[in-house]
Amino acid sequence: MEHKELVEKIQELKKEKNAIVLAHTYQNVEIDEVADFSGDSLYLSQQAAKTNADVIVFAGVYFMAETAKILSPQKTVLLPNLSAGCAMADKINLEQLRTFKAKYPNTPVVCYVNSTAEVKSESDICCTSANAVNVVKSLNAKEVLFVPDQHLGSYVESQLEGVKVITYPGFCPIHHSITVDDVKEKKALYPDAQVMVHPECPKEVTQMADFVGSTTAIIKEVKSSNKKEFIIVTEKGVVERLERDCSDKKFVLINEKAICETMKLIKLEDILNALQNNEYEITVDESVSKRAIKAIDRMVNINA
Ligand code: 13P
Ligand code: SF4
Repeated sequence: MEHKELVEKIQELKKEKNAIVLAHTYQNVEIDEVADFSGDSLYLSQQAAKTNADVIVFAGVYFMAETAKILSPQKTVLLPNLSAGCAMADKINLEQLRTFKAKYPNTPVVCYVNSTAEVKSESDICCTSANAVNVVKSLNAKEVLFVPDQHLGSYVESQLEGVKVITYPGFCPIHHSITVDDVKEKKALYPDAQVMVHPECPKEVTQMADFVGSTTAIIKEVKSSNKKEFIIVTEKGVVERLERDCSDKKFVLINEKAICETMKLIKLEDILNALQNNEYEITVDESVSKRAIKAIDRMVNINA
């Protein structure tokens, strides 16, 4: 099927089924052509919570669709490709979280949304990269446990005075592998460029940033900036969207390996298939969902 026809068919089916498509910033950029909302994890979960649609097609990874299902249990939530997982979410399971918690009794657990529903169900509050600092601040605690991302946890600690953030040793392989030398190399080529970093990067890299933020925050900051060159220190999807939207500015991807392969699994054909065949429906065990919703709701009610 030709691209135009594919897009038209998807739009027709969306109307017919009262469906919306939510697309994460790391999706193949053409997915935005059929997306009702595109953005970071926080924005998409807010949209999932408030939509009147009957069907949510989540163009993202498994934990995002699972979070949407927990927020809107009466809706059908579809993940167009079931292999679209998140390597960070796989770094901690329920048992590992319980072992971690047992070492620090009575310490609140902050859980990055890049985690399984079971892990969320055993946590006090969730956060995304957009609101992590505010979420931890809202707890008014001297000490918190932070899972699974050690780097986001340590970034949060650097932004708050008097709060100890005890991190679980998880990470995103894509962001974790970005180095100080990568930034230096690009800075040598583009000395005037602003360094825009996602907080899943290691501390030494975040410390070199002119700006640290979620994918949506980076995009907003670039759009409102009067600077002309930017080194984008996160996944390639952010660069593709910025090149599409800001043709007067120059964007440099930190390195060619900064690609989340599972995010890229979803193609327009998969979205069409999802709508045609109701595939692949995401379900969450009710007992898990009931507990996880408390941690997610607490987060959604905190401003980024
Ligand atoms: P955002 O919070 O910017 O959506 O990032 C999610 C993510 O998976 C980054 O790797
Ligand atoms: Fe997970 Fe990393 Fe991909 Fe984000 S970029 S979805 S954290 S594997």
